[in-house]
Amino acid sequence: MKDPIEFMQQNLAWLPRGIMSALEKFLRKLPPVQRIIEAEYAKIMPELEAGAKPYQNMLERNAELPDSGVARTRILNEMRKLKKLEEQRWQKGFVSGAVYHGDKAHVDFLNQVYALNSQVNPLHSDLWPSATRYEAEIVSMTAHMLGAGWTDDPEQQIVGTVTSGGTESILLAMKTYRDRARAERGVRYPNIVVPITAHAAFDKASQYFNIKKITVPIDGDFRADVKRMRRAINDNTVCVVGSAVSFPHGVIDPIAELSEYARERNIGFHTDACLGGFILPWAQQLGYPVAPFDFRLPGVTSMSCDTHKFGYASKGTSVVMYRGENLRHYQYYTITDWPGGMYFSPTFAGSRPGALSAACWAAMMSIGAKGYRDATARILKTAADIKKGIQAIPELEILGDPLWVIAFRGRADSNIDIYRVMEFMTHRDWNLNGLHRPSCVHLCVTLRHTQSGVAKRFLKDLNAAIKYVRDNPQESGGMAPVYGMAATLPMRSVVGDLLKRYLDVLYRV
Ligand SMILES: Cc1ncc(COP(=O)(O)O)c(C=O)c1O
Repeated sequence: MKDPIEFMQQNLAWLPRGIMSALEKFLRKLPPVQRIIEAEYAKIMPELEAGAKPYQNMLERNAELPDSGVARTRILNEMRKLKKLEEQRWQKGFVSGAVYHGDKAHVDFLNQVYALNSQVNPLHSDLWPSATRYEAEIVSMTAHMLGAGWTDDPEQQIVGTVTSGGTESILLAMKTYRDRARAERGVRYPNIVVPITAHAAFDKASQYFNIKKITVPIDGDFRADVKRMRRAINDNTVCVVGSAVSFPHGVIDPIAELSEYARERNIGFHTDACLGGFILPWAQQLGYPVAPFDFRLPGVTSMSCDTHKFGYASKGTSVVMYRGENLRHYQYYTITDWPGGMYFSPTFAGSRPGALSAACWAAMMSIGAKGYRDATARILKTAADIKKGIQAIPELEILGDPLWVIAFRGRADSNIDIYRVMEFMTHRDWNLNGLHRPSCVHLCVTLRHTQSGVAKRFLKDLNAAIKYVRDNPQESGGMAPVYGMAATLPMRSVVGDLLKRYLDVLYRV
């Protein structure tokens, strides 16, 4: 055997996952295989490292505390310089997602609010009752945007907490369902049933909290496959998941059917509206086709919705919501016999940045329903123009029928390597999201792209990228080989290791 990895790629990709990973474990211990893998890493790592550390030769390195403090003005000047360098791309609308509003007046306002509240810690609700007010109102405003009705029944009220981001909202919800199922149904081996397109945070929850994740393929429209989801549910299922919209392809899963089935089986259903929560309600009002996804569906028992995305708050807040106080209680942490005193906290963190909650509240209050509706109208109009432009490129096709998170790939007969298209776009300053299984890239349209000329520039560069890749089919570079490797390599742990090495690089001084 010349190259065992190549052999596995070509001959064994069909093996069931368990057998493949046992084989993989065995093979990776063999010195020749280790040498091949190291050689692959050696090819890829330097380029990744150079990309991650552009300031290596420009700034001094501080591996230890400075003897005496550096002057504040010097620190501020250096930060201003870096800010200027880094804000160009997102300000001009070259970036997919990431900064969702970014207008100077809005950012300045949020920064003022942060400055006013920078010492606030919601852990001390007695010291800062203002933070308690902001957080209670953030949850209530978000819940009512997402179909919460007015009711005195505590088990039908939509309640929730403010968290640090979409991932924390999802982690908390999954832990909550696990604990409820254990307490109320005696479930010892819990599982969650998720479409393969559900955000990585569900996998993270499964790893962190020892919950089995049952992953279900999607249908031809890139939405959760209802029949297969139903079949996957069993007596140990603590929660079924759907996205509105999904991160990869920006489509809404069939949440009405899925949540109703979960309700019939008395199982929780979580709608992940981290990405779509602040767009879909307004899109619906504006007359766009939006399938039901929120608390108006009786089977939806929890939702996550990110204020720090299309809620236009500063980075670091999201909302997790539940149908009924009983469910929320499973999220809370309390300890009554700790020598440090009576201790309780609603989320994973202890101390929390109250300034971020204040800024989130201020963003929501200053924008209001009309502001969110107008912003959504602008985003969806720009996205429609971009979709039309992509559809006009014969080599490309859009995946599913998205509203504003637009995933596209080379048509099967076009021979276009979509990762090379992404690479070309990177050289033109664009920052798109590379996706795989299937190979594609996406642009998440934000308010930055609604600036004059941005959509046109995107389409012009995309057309140039297609022409270049078509005319130069052999070249490769940047992230293209990494995605290529992940797409073809059966040895998942090799790619996983590569990502861990990349994280190590990020933390190297
Ligand atoms: C659908 C969806 N869920 C969850 C998340 C996770 O959010 P965060 O990055 O804030 O943790 C994202 C992030 O893009 C998302 O798109």
